[in-house]
This record gives sequence, C-alpha cells and structure tokens, in this order.
Amino acid sequence: MKTKKVTIHTLQTMKERGEKITMLTAYDATFAQLLDESQIDVLLVGDSLGMVVQGHETTLPVTLEDVIYHCRAVARGTRRAHIVGDMPFMSYQASVHEAMLNAGRLIKDGGAHSVKLEGGAQHAELVQKLVSAGIPVMGHIGLTPQSVHQLGGFKVQGRAEGQAESLLQDALTLQAAGAYAIVLEGIPAVIAKTISEKLHIPTIGIGAGAACDGQVLVIYDLLGMNDSFKPRFVRTYEHLATRIRTAVDAYSADVKSGSFPNEQESFYMEEQQRPKASSATVSAIALAGGCGPGPLAPLSMPRSSAEAESEDAAVYSTIKVD
Ligand code: KIV
Repeated sequence: MKTKKVTIHTLQTMKERGEKITMLTAYDATFAQLLDESQIDVLLVGDSLGMVVQGHETTLPVTLEDVIYHCRAVARGTRRAHIVGDMPFMSYQASVHEAMLNAGRLIKDGGAHSVKLEGGAQHAELVQKLVSAGIPVMGHIGLTPQSVHQLGGFKVQGRAEGQAESLLQDALTLQAAGAYAIVLEGIPAVIAKTISEKLHIPTIGIGAGAACDGQVLVIYDLLGMNDSFKPRFVRTYEHLATRIRTAVDAYSADVKSGSFPNEQESFYMEEQQRPKASSATVSAIALAGGCGPGPLAPLSMPRSSAEAESEDAAVYSTIKVD
C-alpha cells in the first residue's frame, strides 16, 4: 500500500483544520522507523544529538557532517514522516552564501526534506533565499540553545519587558520571509498562544504551553533515558534508564554464570542435534523477562526440519554469519 507522505503542505492543512502536529527528534534508523510507524508527523534530526548522543554539555560542537550522517540514517528508516535537518551552530551565521550551500547539503546528502535554523528577524534574508531555492525552512525562536552563552544559560525567554513583542515580531518576520513553521522553545504559554493565533503557519512548542499547533520533545527525554534530567516541560512516558540497567544487569549475570547462551541459543553441526527446549527452561526464561516473545515462541514449539532450515537461514541473514 502506498504511504501518504507528510509534507509542509500537510502541516499547513493540519493547522487550518486545528489538528495538532506531533514532532519528535530522531537520530538513527531504528528509532526513525519506530516513530514513523507510530505516525509521528515530523522527525527532527536535531543538534540536540550533540548532548544526548555525543555527550556534550551543549549543542555547540555539533558539525554539519554530524547532522548529515544522522539525517541519512533517519531517512533510511522513514517512509511517511517529514524529516527536518537542524542547521548546526556556525553553519548558517557567517554568510548567506555558506548557509545556502550547507542547507543544500542537508537536503542533497542527508535526505532531509527541510531545514531548521535558530533565530528571528536577523535571518529573514537567508530564509527568503533558501525558500526561493526550493528549501523549506522551519524557524526556531525563544530559548535558542545555540545562543546559550549569550542567554546566560538554558533559561526561559520572553519574561522581560518588551521581549514578548519582539518574539512576536520575529515570528511574523520569519513567516513573511517564507518559513513554513516555527519552533517556540522555552517561553511563557501566554506568549506562545498569542504568536500561534497571529500566525497562519504552524507553531511547534517545546516548553511553550498547549496552545501551539504542535509539540516537539527530544525522544530520549520522553523515554526517560537520563534519570537525572527532568525539566518541567518534559513528560516522561517511560523510564528506560531503569529498564535498560535491569536488562543489562540480567544479561551480565547470565554471562558470568555461564547460563547464556544456552543450548537453544547455540548452533549445531547438524540441526537434528539441537536439543528441544524443555517447557521448564522456556517458562523460566519467559518469567525472568530475559527474552522477548519473538525468538522464544518458535523455539518452544516442535519444528519440522524445513521450518528449522528457514528459521536458521533467517538467523544467518540477520547476523551475517558466513
Ligand atoms: O535540536 C533539537 O532537538 C531541537 C528541539 C529541541 C526543538 O532543536
């Protein structure tokens, strides 16, 4: 069946119909595929990868090559979602010419469908030129992490005198320059509501309240991968940090005790020599939660030799044993 791809026009129609837009970050093909299958509308290959994947304190060290590399991986895992490639620090600030070439590389080499850049009215000329070159642009205003040192930290923006008005002006200028959507990050909900009502293009909020036309989160935050990072704007839907530690501890204990791999998890010169899994072993593994139902279910059932051959061929093709 043909998949209907999400385009910038789909997102515009969603705003017009009052349908909320879902956006999440993705940095690799496996996550991209999972999020795409969950019908997430937009996948952002964000420069947040510098913090959650590369382990930096800020997004500043991320290079264009890094974002292209991760965009390629995400593009390979995506069939439906719109992919946004984030323009990293200093890939668009020095000159319009250089910015155009760099944005072009995110599309040509990375497989992104549009680019995102941080900042407001100061980038109006660049946004206009990118759009005339056929590159859709998502803006990003408010708490712009690439300006962390200018802002004095990752702080909520827009509370000071005159800031709300200047955020609105930035948003209107980006829209007039041709941006197709704008991320509103770390600003009071009331300002985001006003901006979202005044713009005809969609706003995507992160720490900007519920009135935005869509929401974005960093996927690692949503999944609770880092249990020491819990800002107010993140809703944690899973606690994977704990679950991963538990799973890895169980694996480690099994290796140390010699119980992994067992006979069913090993290969034989002749498949007929493979011992049948006893139901006791199978339920012990299942109770321990050590194996998913995928590999376990077929092994617990009697298999014909043809079934065994085709399952093993699948194993070989997955793990590429010569
Ligand atoms: O890099 C990123 O992940 C972002 C989002 C937080 C909007 O810019």
